[in-house]
Amino acid sequence: MISVFGSKIGLEELEEIRSSLENQWMGIGPKTARFEEEFRNRLGLTQFTLVNSGSNALVMAMKILDLPPGSEVVLPAFTWVSCAHAVVLAGHKPVFCDVDLETHNITRETVEPRINGETRAIMAVHYAGKPVRMETLRDFGLPLVEDAAHAVDSKLGNQYCGNMGDVGIYSFDAVKNLAMPEGGGITGKNKAVMEKTKLLRYCGIGKSGFESALSKPERWWEYNIIDICPKFIPNDVCASVGLVQLKKLDEHQAYRKRIWDTYQAEFGKLDWLATPKGPEPDEQHSYFTYCIRLRTRNRDKLAKHLLDKGIYTTLRYHPLHLNPIFKSSVKLPNCEHLNETALNLPIHPNLTDADVSHIVESVKAF
Ligand SMILES: Cc1ncc(COP(=O)(O)O)c(C=O)c1O
Repeated sequence: MISVFGSKIGLEELEEIRSSLENQWMGIGPKTARFEEEFRNRLGLTQFTLVNSGSNALVMAMKILDLPPGSEVVLPAFTWVSCAHAVVLAGHKPVFCDVDLETHNITRETVEPRINGETRAIMAVHYAGKPVRMETLRDFGLPLVEDAAHAVDSKLGNQYCGNMGDVGIYSFDAVKNLAMPEGGGITGKNKAVMEKTKLLRYCGIGKSGFESALSKPERWWEYNIIDICPKFIPNDVCASVGLVQLKKLDEHQAYRKRIWDTYQAEFGKLDWLATPKGPEPDEQHSYFTYCIRLRTRNRDKLAKHLLDKGIYTTLRYHPLHLNPIFKSSVKLPNCEHLNETALNLPIHPNLTDADVSHIVESVKAF
């Protein structure tokens, strides 16, 4: 079966893990610090904290925004559940907005109707790595959270996604463009707040044992809890994989782009489907996923047809406002349309040329 998502891991990753294990150091340590520095340098971030998942980076992002309890946060319904969970876990209310049909992103027009006197922040998700036009959201004068889980290599002008709002997050899970077994990251503009994220991630304990020993030579085992926060620390096994994946990122991105371009050229000729919008001249895309929309034919039948040919597809995402747990009665026509007509096809560095040809021919044969 050809999988819809995937990453490419090799012996170099294994070697990097081996050196951590040989040094008897699996937990948070020097590899984590090295990954943080190298990632920060690549994206030109002023601060960056590695945590154990993108979902927990979102939880931390909502925490450090420090909004008044019960604030409304506007976010797309066409996104991963963790975005809404983070809002709820921080004691706030997720307010779902629609997305553009072609980019799958929020826009000024889809956000505006959902803003009212209780709105305290907007969460933008760079779907598939296509940058949200952040400049159109700034006029609302609200804090902006950027979910760059799909967008580790995306840019708007000369700014990397994740680095344009007040706080940004990344995901490094096992199928992301920069993969680890699990991992996530958080960046932000406020230096003091970002320094706090390093303390928060270890159960909110302000000082390490070593630092406590320096400041309290007689009772070095005592620690100061600066805030309430679950354990979000990363580890050096994951960071080891991340360090190698970071080196391979350009190569993997070029591979993803090649598949994307093939799909655009081939599927652009089919009038029964709509291809996703590619990057504008001032944008850099990450090509995390390839989401088509069926204009005239049945999406479920295409999914079954491809499954029968050994090609696994999916829909990202089942719109959140349709999930009863969020008790939302809003109508979001584009999200609902995508829910019936959209399909994500495989795109990742583990696909062979033969896989890509098989996918192209199978879609054309439908
Ligand atoms: C848009 C988006 N945000 C956040 C996350 C959460 O990231 P993680 O899986 O690292 O927790 C994901 C995961 O796929 C995602 O797609």
